[in-house]
Amino acid sequence: MKKVIIVNGSPRKNWNTYKMCESFAGGVQAAGGVAEIINLYDVDFKGCRSCFACKLKGGKNFGRCSYPDGLVEVLDKISVADGLVVASPIYCSDVTGVTRCFIERLTFPFFEYKQGYPSIAPKKLKTAMIYTMNIPEVLSNQMYPDLFDKTEFMISTVFEKPIRIFAYDTYQFSDYDKYVVETFDKNKKLKQKETLFPKDLQNAFEAGKSMIESIES
Ligand SMILES: Cc1cc2nc3c(=O)[nH]c(=O)nc-3n(C[C@H](O)[C@H](O)[C@H](O)COP(=O)(O)O)c2cc1C
Repeated sequence: MKKVIIVNGSPRKNWNTYKMCESFAGGVQAAGGVAEIINLYDVDFKGCRSCFACKLKGGKNFGRCSYPDGLVEVLDKISVADGLVVASPIYCSDVTGVTRCFIERLTFPFFEYKQGYPSIAPKKLKTAMIYTMNIPEVLSNQMYPDLFDKTEFMISTVFEKPIRIFAYDTYQFSDYDKYVVETFDKNKKLKQKETLFPKDLQNAFEAGKSMIESIES
C-alpha cells in the first residue's frame, strides 16, 4: 500500500489546517492508500544547526539529516514514504517558523553542492502543500505574490513540484465576541466557514485521492 506522510505545521489540533490534513488523509484512504498525520508542534526539534554531517566526504550520514532530536524519526518515515504533504497556516506573511525549520532539515541534506545542484533524495516523492490563512484569496494574491514559490523552492528541487491547496478567509476564533476583532466581521466569517471551508476540505480530499492515483499510474 502506498503511504503518504502529512505534516501539520499548525500548533492547533482540530482547527483549519489540521482539518485540511484530515480531509487529504481521507482522500488517500479512499483511493486505497495509507496516510499518517504528524503534528510538528508535538515533535521536539529545531532548524538546521549547520553541522554539515550531511555533506561530509565519506561521512556515514552523508545525504541525510542525523542531528539527534525528535525530527530524525519523522525524516526516516518520509524517506520510505511515497508521498508528502506539508501544511501550514500563514503567520506574519509566511509559513509558521516550525514549518520553515522542518523544510530546512528535510531538504538541505538532499541538495548536493555539485553543478546543477542534483537531488540525492532516495525517492522523487509526490508532494503537496496546504496553506490556510485569515485573508481572502484576492488579498492573498496581492500580498503574497511569490511567497508560495519561495516556500516550495527547495521541496520542488529535491522532490516533485508540489500541488497547492488553499483555505482562505478561515475562521480564527471559537467565539469572535470574546476577542478584540474589528477588522474581521464575525458574520462574514461564519458564512465563510459554512460555505467556503467545506469546499476547501473537499479539494483537499480530492487532492489526496489524486496523489495516490498518480503514484500508482
Ligand atoms: C501569530 C499569527 C500570525 C498570523 N498571521 C497571518 C498573516 O500574516 N496572514 C493571514 O492571512 N493570516 C494570519 N494569521 C491567521 C492564520 O493564518 C489563520 O487563522 C489560519 O487558518 C490558522 O490555522 P489553524 O486554524 O490551523 O490554527 C495569523 C495567525 C497567528 C496566530
